[in-house]
Amino acid sequence: MSTTQIKAVHARRVWDSRGRPTLETEIRLEDGSSARAIAPAGASRGSREAIDLRDGGKRLGGFDVGSAISAVNGPIAAALKGLNADDQDAVDQVLLALDPSPTKSQLGGNALIATSMAAAHAAAAATGEPLYRRLARLHQQAPVIPIPEIQIFGGGAHAGRRIDIQDLMVVARSARSVAQALEMTAEVYIAAGRIMAERGPLAGVADEGGFWPAFATNEEALQTLLKSIEQAGYVPGDEVAISLDIAASEFGSKGRYRLGLESRDIDSDAMIELLGRWLERFPICSIEDPLAEDDVQGMQRFTKAWGSRVQVVGDDFIVTQAGLIDAAHAQGACNTALIKPNQAGTLTETRAAFEAARRHQWDTIVSARSGETEDTTICDLAIGWGARQIKVGSIARGERTAKWNALIRAEEALGADAWAGGQWLPISTRNA
Ligand code: PGA
Ligand code: ZN
Repeated sequence: MSTTQIKAVHARRVWDSRGRPTLETEIRLEDGSSARAIAPAGASRGSREAIDLRDGGKRLGGFDVGSAISAVNGPIAAALKGLNADDQDAVDQVLLALDPSPTKSQLGGNALIATSMAAAHAAAAATGEPLYRRLARLHQQAPVIPIPEIQIFGGGAHAGRRIDIQDLMVVARSARSVAQALEMTAEVYIAAGRIMAERGPLAGVADEGGFWPAFATNEEALQTLLKSIEQAGYVPGDEVAISLDIAASEFGSKGRYRLGLESRDIDSDAMIELLGRWLERFPICSIEDPLAEDDVQGMQRFTKAWGSRVQVVGDDFIVTQAGLIDAAHAQGACNTALIKPNQAGTLTETRAAFEAARRHQWDTIVSARSGETEDTTICDLAIGWGARQIKVGSIARGERTAKWNALIRAEEALGADAWAGGQWLPISTRNA
């Protein structure tokens, strides 16, 4: 009998950062070790990502996860018992055989990803090594401490659509360690808080911990972010660059974009022009989902125009799926992949998406969701797979700092050589 043989699989209901239920899977092995993982959940979801299965009905806003929990405790537990947790591929193949639907709509992407991640943790627990070390060893990859993109202002679906842009983030390009990157970002966050407080009573924070966007226009949000970087004492661009997640699928479809703040409807070309003006005026290193997921031509045109001056990141556009990454690459749409395990549904599929991006020489950003918990699996994936970038939300709120603090500990264990650095990141303009 192998020591990593699965003895029991159990799911329970736990709570996420938005006061909603989610599920945690715990896996116990024959050798006595055990491990657990929790499914995250998104608010601005791509239409082709794995389904986050919810019970519906009146209780808990319809968000309860009773059927996903039953799926784990019933068919999934029965099928995984006796399998080796250290064979991730075999575990995930069993999960996929139980729910062969393209979006995991039968058992739920949330049931599958919590279980798939718990198996990875259980295999690492059996050997006593951190999961990132185990993954790095398995993939013959030197562990990499990724550079963080950190939210300063939240917006879009994470802030009652107060502004159209969903995420206004910073990247500490000149930092020499993740510890320093976090310190630099904290200075910017504190400066931003001061500026916001001067303008009026602070309205709290958005879903991912960034300040509530009390702005009259999207540009005002960008201006305030630039000012926060300067007041924190950094050179915008060279030292601290701006990164945006437009999440355009939230307000655009069929080639039309509705700018809520300005009560204006624009077409795809006008949207590209608007984004272009921001890229000319602000030192931006990365722009995610600049056009909607159904606007392939817009994404092609945007990537052609700006792809050499900024990272064009696909999130809703490619939903962590190898096939969609291949297609986007062939179309010349995007040049960087966001990697969210729960969009894929299993770690094996997440890894396949990561490898597809690598094959096309795209960089990767491992990402959390707006609904998060203390689970830090994405840090292990980023470090162990050698992704150079990570995105987790802001530097406030425990579900976010759990990830940053995990990176600090890993950096201490791995040493300075593991730091990905950020000097290689492009900057759209130096004329801010
Ligand atoms: P979500 O947003 O987790 O609410 O989908 C995060 C993102 O769009 O990157
Ligand atoms: Zn996004």
